Amino acid sequence: MAVEPVVYGSSKRPPRGDYARAHEDYTCEQNSEYSAEEHARYARLCERQLALLDGRASDEFVAALPHLGHHSKIPRLETTSKRLMDATGWQIVAVPGLIPEVPFFTLLANKKFPVTDWIRKESEFDYVVEPDIFHDLFGHVPQLFNQPYADYMEAYGKGALKAHAVDACEQLSRLYWFTIEFGLMKAKGGVRAYGAGILSSPGELRHSVQSAQPNRIMLDIVRCMRTSYEIDAYQQTYFVIESFEQLRELTSPDFTELYVAAKAADVLPAGSSLAGDRHVMFAP
Ligand code: PHE
Ligand code: CO
Repeated sequence: MAVEPVVYGSSKRPPRGDYARAHEDYTCEQNSEYSAEEHARYARLCERQLALLDGRASDEFVAALPHLGHHSKIPRLETTSKRLMDATGWQIVAVPGLIPEVPFFTLLANKKFPVTDWIRKESEFDYVVEPDIFHDLFGHVPQLFNQPYADYMEAYGKGALKAHAVDACEQLSRLYWFTIEFGLMKAKGGVRAYGAGILSSPGELRHSVQSAQPNRIMLDIVRCMRTSYEIDAYQQTYFVIESFEQLRELTSPDFTELYVAAKAADVLPAGSSLAGDRHVMFAP
C-alpha cells in the first residue's frame, strides 16, 4: 500500500493534528517534545528505506539524502531548511498536518515546502493514512536539493493557483500525484523512483521498480491529467520521465489548452492502456 493516500484537499475525514497552533498561513513551530520512542521510530523508518534504495531510488535522491543530516532521530527542520536554502533557495516549514489547497499552493509558489511535524504511531509503522514527518521529510525534501526539481515544484505551486482559478485542480492534482508522489525516472537498464509516496513506502518501492504488473508509460501531460488513481493500493500506472530537466521543460508551456483537452476527454481508469501510450519495457 502507498504510504500516503491523501495528498491535499481530497480527505473526507477531518485531518489529524492540532490546528489551533497554526498561523494564518497554516505553518507552525515544530514540536520540540518528541519522545525517545518517536525518535527511535523515525530512525527505524529511515533504516528500513535506506536498505532498499540501491538500484531502486533515483540517483538524484540518493545523492541528496546526506543533506537531511542524521537519520538517527527526528531532525530539527530549521537546520535542514538552512542547508536547503543554500542549495536551491527553498525552505522547509512545519505544519500541523494536511492543509487546504490554496495555502498549500501558496507555500510552494513561495519556495516553502510544508512538512507535517508529527510522526506516525507504532501501529502505523507500515501504513499511515495521512502524510507524517517521515513521508514529508524523507520522501520529499531530498529532491528539493536538485535545482530543476525545485524549479518544477515552484512552477507547480504557481500553476496550481492558476488552475484553481479556472477550476482545473482535479486535472493538475493528477500531475502532482503521478510526478511528485509516484514519479519514476528512466535509468540505465530500467527505471528508478523519485516520487515521495514511493520512496517512503517499502512495498511500493519494490512494486514500482520491479513488478511486471503495472503500466509504466512515458509522461504525457494530458494523458496524465486524465488518469484516475487509487489512494489505498499500489499504483497500476506509473508515468516515467527522462530527467528532472525534461519534467521542467514538459510542464513549462501554458496549460490552459491542455486543461480544456483533459476535461473534454474521458477520465481513464487507473490501470488502462491507450493506443498512443509509450510503454517503458519492463526489465527486471
Ligand atoms: N505551465 C503550467 C501553466 O501554465 C504551470 C505548471 C508548471 C503546472 C509546472 C505544473 C507544473 O499552467
Ligand atoms: Co507527499
